[in-house]
Amino acid sequence: MVEKLAVDGGPRAVPDGLTKVPWPLITDEDVAAVSAALKSGQIWGNAPNVISLEKEWADYCGTKYCHGTNGGTAALHMALAGAGVGAGDEVIVPAYSFHSSASCILHHNAIPVFADIDFATYTLDPKKIEEKITKKTKAIIGVDLFGLPANWDGINKIAKKNGLVTIEDGCQAHGAAIRAKKTGALGDIAGFSLNGSKNLPGAEGGLLTTNDKDLFDKSKILEMAVQIIDGKRTYPAYSFGWNYRMNELSAALTRSRLKHLDALNGKRRQNSEYLSSKLKKFDGIIPPYVPEGYTHVYHMYKIALDPALSEKYKVHIKEIRNGIVFALNAEGVQTALWVQETLNHQGIYTALRGYGDGCPWTCPYGSRVKRDYANEVYPSAQRLVDSTFNIEFFYPPNEKPYLDAVIHAFEKVWKNLDMLFS
Ligand SMILES: Cc1ncc(COP(=O)(O)O)c(C=O)c1O
Repeated sequence: MVEKLAVDGGPRAVPDGLTKVPWPLITDEDVAAVSAALKSGQIWGNAPNVISLEKEWADYCGTKYCHGTNGGTAALHMALAGAGVGAGDEVIVPAYSFHSSASCILHHNAIPVFADIDFATYTLDPKKIEEKITKKTKAIIGVDLFGLPANWDGINKIAKKNGLVTIEDGCQAHGAAIRAKKTGALGDIAGFSLNGSKNLPGAEGGLLTTNDKDLFDKSKILEMAVQIIDGKRTYPAYSFGWNYRMNELSAALTRSRLKHLDALNGKRRQNSEYLSSKLKKFDGIIPPYVPEGYTHVYHMYKIALDPALSEKYKVHIKEIRNGIVFALNAEGVQTALWVQETLNHQGIYTALRGYGDGCPWTCPYGSRVKRDYANEVYPSAQRLVDSTFNIEFFYPPNEKPYLDAVIHAFEKVWKNLDMLFS
């Protein structure tokens, strides 16, 4: 017998009483760590938790250098300065990500040039990079999206061939890896976010990592306008510093959470693999793909719908996705669509807003050819926007009872697909 859907007045697959615990997990140990930092009185400047976190994160990532910042966007912006990107230079970035992956380029008065993603991994497609390289290109930003490292073998190879610096946006992938190499060490220089939603939450904050002393030193110039001479801070500004300093309380929280990063990533993986093993049996569901040798840390659990569903029901895949999401939500499954526009189609680019008045595109150093982002179409990025959705609360401490209820909701909805879309 086909169970009645909750949208049609049937009982919910996820009972109301089933506990769903939101992220991040904060323990008494974390509260004690932040409280101790607060009580120490050393809550600014080169404070002890910031210094220790920089060392611990460098050790964790396997990089020589790490610097704490006040956010992931700040770390990426600093990385661009490190890479020697200048006004009007071009930086290649995937057409789908959180907006900071590209807006950090504008922060540095440079021009974002988009390239499509590989739909299987949702990350920058190395095959789409070379056609975007011009004399002005200085760097490539690869994003380890949803917790999966980008194809760094491919990206680094192209960068090396063309003399470009690779910048890793690891904001969603703390602890992910390719073979034994962790994020933070996969490109030439990397930026992480410690925003509370992240696998490594520090309330707000960021971390920059690299193995290259020159990139490191140049990136730090952006942090403060002042110069350090013989270990002493001087006050007259000698450059455009953004005061991207890390907060000591965030560093204390991050250090405390870092102790649990691997265990919690392991649980995210376990829950996600369980969901994938069940959901792949439903016609038209494409669970997250993990290439051989890659460690996914599932910052988000994202599934895609096969275009075959659209062909079968003669309905656009976006409408099918929206209908399924609506029915699942009614069953008590919390879902999210996340970013619903490819980067190039967002207003800041379509209207060439940037700094205003068309800057940086129209600035004297900017590309002479004014870009028309609005007319650029990246089929795989657009497919991601149209045909995917996230399942929320898949992460720890939520466990099997909730995951099984989610799977039950999918069973109900899938048995009713003909009714919903025919
Ligand atoms: C992929 C990606 N890049 C960059 C950022 C920016 O990090 P922050 O919000 O800490 O500035 C985020 C944060 O959400 C992100 O998800």
